[in-house]
Parts: sequence; C-alpha cells; structure tokens
Amino acid sequence: MTNVRLPLLCAAAIAIVIASAVTPSLELSCPSGFFADSIGCSQEEGGVPVPVRKDVYGNGRIFDITHTYRPDMPSWGSVEGLGPDFIKQSESIKNGSLANSSEMKLGVHSGTHLDAPGHFFDHYFDAGYDVTTLDLEVLNGPALLVDVPRDSNITAEVMKSLNIPKGVRRVLFRTLNTDRRLMWKKEFDTSYVGFMEDGAKWLVENTDIKLVGIDYLSAAAYVHGAPSHYVFLRSREIILVEALKLEDIQVGIYSLHCLPLKLLGSEGSPARCILIG
Ligand SMILES: *[C@@H]1O[C@H](CO)[C@@H](O)[C@H](O)[C@H]1NC(C)=O
Ligand SMILES: *[C@@H]1O[C@H](CO)[C@@H](O)[C@H](O)[C@H]1NC(C)=O
Ligand SMILES: *[C@@H]1O[C@H](CO)[C@@H](O)[C@H](O)[C@H]1NC(C)=O
Repeated sequence: MTNVRLPLLCAAAIAIVIASAVTPSLELSCPSGFFADSIGCSQEEGGVPVPVRKDVYGNGRIFDITHTYRPDMPSWGSVEGLGPDFIKQSESIKNGSLANSSEMKLGVHSGTHLDAPGHFFDHYFDAGYDVTTLDLEVLNGPALLVDVPRDSNITAEVMKSLNIPKGVRRVLFRTLNTDRRLMWKKEFDTSYVGFMEDGAKWLVENTDIKLVGIDYLSAAAYVHGAPSHYVFLRSREIILVEALKLEDIQVGIYSLHCLPLKLLGSEGSPARCILIG
C-alpha cells in the first residue's frame, strides 16, 4: 500500500510546488452566464461554449512560448504590424459554401519563427539550405532559459558574464525586450536588444550552443543585423529562434519543442514552440 501511495503523493507535492512557483494564476475567470469546467468556460443554458485561449497547460507543466499571430503583432520594419489581411476567409458558410475556409499570406519571418542558413547566405540558399533541412534534434531537447542583464545588448562581455556551462546546447535569452513588451507593440522598434557581432562570435567560439532563442523579431541587434547573422549562420549548425514569448516563466532548464512548417525553398518559417517543465 505505502509503496504505491508514496510516489503518487510525492508527484502530487512536486506538481503543486511547480505550479505555485511558476504560474501566476491558473484560475479561469469566465464571463457572467458561464461557468468553468474541465475544458474551459461553458454556457449554462446550452449553446456554444466560449473558447478559451491560454499559454499554460497541464497545471503549469507546459508553457506555450509562441506569440499569437494577430493584426497588431509587430512586423519587421512596419509601423502597421501584420495588419488585418494576413488571414482571410476565402469561402464562407454565410455565403453559401459548404464550409468556412481561410487563406493566409504571411512573411516567413513573422512572429515566432526561425531562420535557416539561406536567410543571410545566398550560396546556402541556392544550395537548398531551407527550413526543411533544419535538425529536429537541435530543435527539440533540454534548453536553458536565462535572463540577460538589462542594461546592454548581448556583447562578448555579457555572454561571458552569463557563465553558461559547456555542454548546454539550447539557450533562450530573455532580455529587456520582454520587460518592454515589444512583441505587444504594433510599431516595429529598432531599439530592441539582440546580439552584437562580438557577442555572437563569443557564443560560437566558447560555447556548445546550437539553438539561440530570443524575445524579439531578430537575434541580431538592429545595428549589427547582418554581421551577427553571418556569425551565427555561417557554420549551418546554429538555429535561430526569434520572437519567443518568454513572459512569466522562471529561469531554469526545460524541455524545448520547436516545430517549423516544412516549407521547401523557404529560408524561414513560423514555428510553434513550447517548454515542458
Ligand atoms: C460573402 O459575400 C459578400 C457579398 O457578396 C462579400 O462581400 C464577401 O466578401 C463574401 N465573403 C466571403 C468570405 O466569401
Ligand atoms: C463561418 O464563417 C462565418 C462568416 O461567413 C462566421 O461568422 C462563422 O463564425 C464561421 N464559422 C466557423 C465555424 O468558423
Ligand atoms: C541595443 O542596441 C540598439 C541598436 O541596435 C539600441 O537602440 C539600444 O539602445 C541598445 N539597448 C541597450 C539596452 O543597450
């Protein structure tokens, strides 16, 4: 009896500790006329339940670190964001079609996305180094979430100060971008924090990191846009995952899962990324 019960109790205790440590609030607040049930908010008097959108699942075990594609999501170089037309209904039941059906038109470097070597190297692009060639083993595995000092872009000095141990292959860098909520501001902001060329070089030369995650649209600081990308992508070994949603998650080690779309000939792709604690 005790043999069976004890591990269960331990698991429950651990789950409670994790849940209370990392999730601000798991309680659903439903609009009036609705009540919370196991799947979300349901309407009391029949009808269609209200859909629930959330970023934390499984009692704080799974974090969705993907930004939702929405019209006011910032987009590279734009003051208008993605705009309302990135997704459009092409067939509608209301107009007599059998089903609703939508089409999307989206830059492949929009929102939470990743870069393939062909993004900055024309000869790699021509040789076919597109997103379908990215290593799923690199994109899925243990990852370290770290906080970057807020007073600087990511330089060699900053990289050194983070003391990331050898052997760590995936790191998500949370920066001032998260504090400034830049991914929630429609207008593209060039003052975001990213890697300076010497920071990228330091990472390549002194760590085993093969996946670099960051919390705005580019891993490279605006002023070093091209140089930092060259340093990262030259070896074709490092994958850049950009515009991650790293709010309200404790620093530490998680299991990262990132899956880009399998777009032949594309040097970038939106990706759904999650952390499992
Ligand atoms: C439905 O029909 C209206 C009127 O013809 C048109 O303005 C609208 O674009 C149509 N919507 C779709 C999704 O086909
Ligand atoms: C189908 O499209 C109509 C608009 O034509 C929309 O009001 C309705 O919610 C859609 N239904 C579904 C299931 O998405
Ligand atoms: C980072 O660099 C950008 C230019 O790319 C600059 O505007 C910004 O102020 C820098 N941020 C910090 C915290 O130094």
